[in-house]
Amino acid sequence: NVLILDFGSQYTQLIARRVRELNIFCEIFPYNNPPQDLSSYKAVILSGSPFSVRAEDAPHPDLSEIRGKMPLLAVCYGAQYLAHFHGGEVKPSNIREYGRANLSYIKEQESFFEGVTVGSQVWMSHSDTIKQLPENGVRLASTKDVENAAYKIEGETTYAIQFHPEVYHSTDGKQMLENFLVKIAEVPQNFTPDTFVDDIVKELKEKIQDDKVVLGLSGGVDSTVAAVLLNKAIGKNLYCIFVNNGLLRKNEFESVLHQYKDMGLNVKGVDASERFLSQLKGVDDPETKRKIIGRVFIEVFDDEAHQLTDVKWLAQGTIYPDVIESVSVNGPSATIKSHHNVGGLPDFMKLKVVEPLRMLFKDEVRRVGASLGIDAELLGRHPFPGPGLSIRILGDITPEKVRILQDVDAIFIEGLKSNGLYDKVWQAGAILLPVNSVGVMGDERTYEKVVALRAVESTDGMTADWVHLPYDFLMKVSNEIINKVKGVNRVVYDISSKPPATIEWE
Ligand code: XMP
Repeated sequence: NVLILDFGSQYTQLIARRVRELNIFCEIFPYNNPPQDLSSYKAVILSGSPFSVRAEDAPHPDLSEIRGKMPLLAVCYGAQYLAHFHGGEVKPSNIREYGRANLSYIKEQESFFEGVTVGSQVWMSHSDTIKQLPENGVRLASTKDVENAAYKIEGETTYAIQFHPEVYHSTDGKQMLENFLVKIAEVPQNFTPDTFVDDIVKELKEKIQDDKVVLGLSGGVDSTVAAVLLNKAIGKNLYCIFVNNGLLRKNEFESVLHQYKDMGLNVKGVDASERFLSQLKGVDDPETKRKIIGRVFIEVFDDEAHQLTDVKWLAQGTIYPDVIESVSVNGPSATIKSHHNVGGLPDFMKLKVVEPLRMLFKDEVRRVGASLGIDAELLGRHPFPGPGLSIRILGDITPEKVRILQDVDAIFIEGLKSNGLYDKVWQAGAILLPVNSVGVMGDERTYEKVVALRAVESTDGMTADWVHLPYDFLMKVSNEIINKVKGVNRVVYDISSKPPATIEWE
């Protein structure tokens, strides 16, 4: 187990992901709230930070229980921190030290750099520079502009690097992390999907025993994997609820419910379409739509949970990025929690919470899902927003508009699948625009709806680019939509990236 102390760098999660790619388990803690008990940790990594060590309000971690007592790797801010407060010198640099650089010197026979050669590209991102190494510091590497690009402390297993090994642009970054963690710190590489499943199933059994658990399934990857894990641990004591809000993709409710049952899950499908659509009637503001859908979902779920007796736990598909967000150096973002505080909590939210995936990143959830034997198609599904098609119908929502959009979306998604394009796209869907346009069909003039198609590539939804789908494919899909979906006479393709646009239109 490896401890990563976060000083607020945008790259901290990436460090964790690289470490996990080495099959080593790691946890991120804010530097100002580290774990009390360090005995289970075999090594510590200090992250970068937006702060300068020379700033008055810069992070001042207490490393007295760590430094010299266990292997320590200090990255960027961490490297400067060790230098600045332990007899070295950190100054603003005269030249920009952002972006690619190449190692021009590597100390010979240094296990940290085993397998790395002079010329290796590293990624720099800092405005201060280490002018003088701390006490007992030994230079390990330089670049043309950064003399002290890496150093170690003689007599300790303390290593410090100015560049970011976690970023892909640092070509040998993963090798260096492996050298440090495996060769130097001797951390075992035993964190795999299979060992995770074995451990978590055992843990869930002990924690839950014979209690009953309720879980909301969404059709998405996270809640599905959480359900299958719990099912493995406690079987029929897991009660799953899958709500149809009337805004899912075409036939999705029936087909996914069927899949869930095939997987042996104890699941109840609740068709609340009319309840949602009647509450949404006449509403065209996007945020109001989201709020209504959130509120009605909680009402429906609470009603269903009340029909079960003796339920003790609420299971959720929370994953690690959400957990980190709520404990991060910068604190939880205000908006995430606020809506739970309005008007008291519904009863099901007073249950004890169990979150089997809270230590996993998204790609790890998929790998765990695969190791549990969940269908690859289900695991490879594009993300789909909770408010569903409501935020892809611009303006107010009617059953007729939902029907049109479901038909258009189904043609687009089926087309992507049958042309081998679905897995090359991160997310795709159709948007029903609140405008009519003139067309001509046969001898008749039409005045009908316009739909936009959107397909993006992304890694986490934070940034995205539109996919250059083949013209031939777009032509076929456009023809099929206009010919088959009554009420649509024009199709456009969205060629905006995020930023400055967003993935959804609302
Ligand atoms: P945007 O439109 O912000 O979307 O670029 C980024 C990702 O988030 C999804 N999204 C949502 N998911 N509830 C959700 O569960 C929402 O209200 C919501 N809004 C956007 C969007 O589909 C994309 O994957």
